[in-house]
Amino acid sequence: MDTGFTVEQMRAAATDAVRAPSLHNVQPWRFRLRDGGIEVLVDQTRHLPATDPSGWGARIACGAALFNLRLALAVAGTPATVRLRPYPAEPDVVARLLPDVPRRPTPAEQALHAAIPRRFSNRAPFWPDPVPADARWRLGEAARAEQCWLELLIGVSAVAAFGEIAHSAHRVLERDPAYRAERDAWVRAEQSADGIPAASGGPQTEPQDVLPSRGFGGRNRAPGRDFEPEPLVAVLGSPGNTAVDQVVAGQALQRILLTATDLGLSASMLSQPIEVPSARDQLRLSLGRFGTPQMVMRIGYGQPGWPTPRRAVDEVVDVPVQA
Ligand SMILES: Cc1cc2nc3c(=O)[nH]c(=O)nc-3n(C[C@H](O)[C@H](O)[C@H](O)COP(=O)(O)O)c2cc1C
Repeated sequence: MDTGFTVEQMRAAATDAVRAPSLHNVQPWRFRLRDGGIEVLVDQTRHLPATDPSGWGARIACGAALFNLRLALAVAGTPATVRLRPYPAEPDVVARLLPDVPRRPTPAEQALHAAIPRRFSNRAPFWPDPVPADARWRLGEAARAEQCWLELLIGVSAVAAFGEIAHSAHRVLERDPAYRAERDAWVRAEQSADGIPAASGGPQTEPQDVLPSRGFGGRNRAPGRDFEPEPLVAVLGSPGNTAVDQVVAGQALQRILLTATDLGLSASMLSQPIEVPSARDQLRLSLGRFGTPQMVMRIGYGQPGWPTPRRAVDEVVDVPVQA
């Protein structure tokens, strides 16, 4: 089909797509070319049964990868139209992209695309400097541009109230041996193409921490190296909580994270209060917002860090067999 995408276009865009974040860096995606369309699929062989029983996390990750894919295609001058979950009989296909009218990329698309290789989860303490109002506004705009909302928790008491919900969700998860085993199995002491490098896991949680960290076996903190006293906590929400809503939220997540990177900000994610249904309900009620919380981010000015590894693109791309 001469109006479709080519294998080369898919492979080039997938190189950016795989830089998306995913739970425990499992990278639960595949990309394939079918009848000229690039399709993004959830890779069920990378399912996390104890941590992500419903597949929410995999759909968020695939949505984030889809956002990178859209950006890469747009910056190459071949933007795509996107259909989410195009085949009811194939729920693992989260999106299908077809070529739109070719055009030059916008400066905003170029800036976000340039941020893809620089973004990473920064779990270390941030500097205490507050995030300026115009940057906060741009983060909210990024969510709205993807049909989602971003609620910024302002002030010590709002953050402390959220911290209590997050800590109680963290304790619920930690009581489950299967959850702990799954997390520990994805921490990597040696170099690896997936999982969380021990050096990126962030420091161990201490009793005085306002927010729980996931416990990726990081190092102990030196005395006095506390987290920032007033972190900027941002809750991303979507209008509903269907599988499509979760893919939409994944795209919004990535747009927010890339916007933050472009603004010189760092971010880490904490999803314990999203994964425990009672905590998610409590969070939703405390925000008083219509819709469903899909992710929580801590955003601020971080110390330098480095991106985590990914599997080679050839491992995640399926090309049509030539007749
Ligand atoms: C759905 C989802 C949930 C996540 N939850 C957490 C979390 O609770 N704690 C955390 O430190 N990182 C969390 N992350 C971040 C991943 O661990 C991270 O994206 C992955 O290890 C790849 O590293 P990178 O973000 O540096 O590229 C989450 C990411 C996704 C997509």
